[in-house]
Amino acid sequence: MCGIVGYVGPRKVVPIILEGLKRLEYRGYDSAGLVYLLDGKVHKHRSEGKLANLEELMEDVDDGGSHIGLGHTRWATHGPPSEANAHPHSDCSGELVVVHNGIIENFDTLRRELTAEGHIFTSQTDTEVLAHLIEEYLDGDLVAAVQAAVRDVEGSFALGVMWSGQPDILVAARNQSPLVLGILEGRGCFLASDIPALLPYTRNIIYLEDQEMAVLRADGLEVMTLADGRPLEKEIHTIDWNAAMAEKAGYRHFMLKEIYEQPLAVLNTFRGRLEPESGVINLPEIGLDAAELRNLSRIFLVACGTSWHAALVAKYWLEKWVGIPVEVDIASEFRYRRLLLGPEVLVIPISQSGETADTLAGLRLAAKLGSKIISICNVVGSTITRESDGTIYTHAGPEIGVASTKAFTSQLTALFLLTLYLGQELETIERERRIEMARALVALPPIIEKELPRLQKDMDVLAADFSRSRDFLYLGRGENFPIALEGALKLKEISYIHAEGYAAGELKHGPIALIDREMPVLALVPQDRVYGKVISNVQEVKARHGRMILVGSEGDEALAEIADYAVYLPRINEELNPILYVIPLQLLSYQIANMRGCDVDQPRNLAKSVTVE
Ligand code: M6R
Repeated sequence: MCGIVGYVGPRKVVPIILEGLKRLEYRGYDSAGLVYLLDGKVHKHRSEGKLANLEELMEDVDDGGSHIGLGHTRWATHGPPSEANAHPHSDCSGELVVVHNGIIENFDTLRRELTAEGHIFTSQTDTEVLAHLIEEYLDGDLVAAVQAAVRDVEGSFALGVMWSGQPDILVAARNQSPLVLGILEGRGCFLASDIPALLPYTRNIIYLEDQEMAVLRADGLEVMTLADGRPLEKEIHTIDWNAAMAEKAGYRHFMLKEIYEQPLAVLNTFRGRLEPESGVINLPEIGLDAAELRNLSRIFLVACGTSWHAALVAKYWLEKWVGIPVEVDIASEFRYRRLLLGPEVLVIPISQSGETADTLAGLRLAAKLGSKIISICNVVGSTITRESDGTIYTHAGPEIGVASTKAFTSQLTALFLLTLYLGQELETIERERRIEMARALVALPPIIEKELPRLQKDMDVLAADFSRSRDFLYLGRGENFPIALEGALKLKEISYIHAEGYAAGELKHGPIALIDREMPVLALVPQDRVYGKVISNVQEVKARHGRMILVGSEGDEALAEIADYAVYLPRINEELNPILYVIPLQLLSYQIANMRGCDVDQPRNLAKSVTVE
């Protein structure tokens, strides 16, 4: 996600911005830019691609040793990566500039209103509306204008604002996107998306909270409420992280950080796309009207690895709720079989990176055969998105750990939204049902957030017992069968323990031969429509003295009686169980890999983006 850096003080600002942005590179980005004030004027420089391009650009620029400015690395959400879409964005005069991280959900409405007022837009971003909106309210007082502007805004933001009319201040504001402030006693103030950007200069940090803003000056800063400017006393924290720890926000590994980012990743993926009160789902990315949707004879979901597991879950959802036959293909198989595709088939490639070679090849074949392509992807502007007719973006933010975690749960979220959307357009899901499911989805992020620390502790205990196991079996039924596959994949890829996922009903058709006192078997047993069936399968394992871990519904005391370990999860709408039930499995793999001393973030032989066949 985007990175923000700002400084005002006696030091030269441009080197501080470039160094700070470099330290935020881990967040992922596709363009970069900066602004500074010189001789009472704003000077702006931006470039597409890596930070090195911006650095090269700045080599030929005389910044006059400016002492106030803002910088930004952009991770595209609205509009492809380009110089015009790179931040900072300006108002009509070019003298007021904004850097932003987050999503302005009502940007379209605001943009139309501002255009009608005569504002001229030069980018496709949601951020540019902020610059024009602040301009609209500006009457000599930048702080008041920012306060007024954000009242019109729906969505998330971390903001840095600068205006040549008040050349001594930077204004910062936050709502649901991270922003920290740094203080260098008597030598200036900083703002940044994350602490690593500030570590070369100061360890005195203030965390800006949601609905707070700050005014930064060379000699100090004030923090106040965003709504009414009420002054706030903020604690100054002294950070003792080293740079590597700081990049991971204090987590030991990116994978763990990303597991903990899942509440936000899920929220960001459905945010702005559903109205829980009315049950209305907005997915304009699909670009097919109800008549075209009615003509669809089949849907193909094409993906690799973890993304393929997301596709397998979606087959259960789509066939149950929409009633269109769904085929799920591993992309490397799809591309080499006879494909019976055509305009009446919708093909949905699913890929976190948007660059996976096999998935891309499958997409190209399907497009040649005349099928409509709607991809599900996390990386804006990636090849798969560029070659699709439309893309439903997951807004998980950059995923650095090779083992996919938050990208998976946000893919599931996007696929669940797709199910609700098709059910709405094809009238296969009644309004009341949609409201119920939309509300359940909205309730999910805080549930995940609350459960994560407890689950990590539970998995720590299990990991201590099982970290020396040689094999592992994962069982599930229905939409939790793919979660069993995903649990097994996570374990093998980061801990190198051999693991298999099975549909629980398949146990007696072969794998039961493996069960002995040494074999750990983890089964997913939420109290859903197939609960009794999975319990019977579990009893078969118990009868052969397998070591059982059961993950099921809170209050189901029978589990503790059957299992060596029972792990409980809250009862939620059972459709959404796959999103919740995968989380303890991710944590178990993580803790086991850690105990075995494995390189969790970069497991042997694996790459984050598999761009070869
Ligand atoms: O970027 P993609 O989603 O297309 O990647 C697909 C697989 O390579 C990926 O999910 C892989 O299986 C992960 N390492 C799983 O954790």
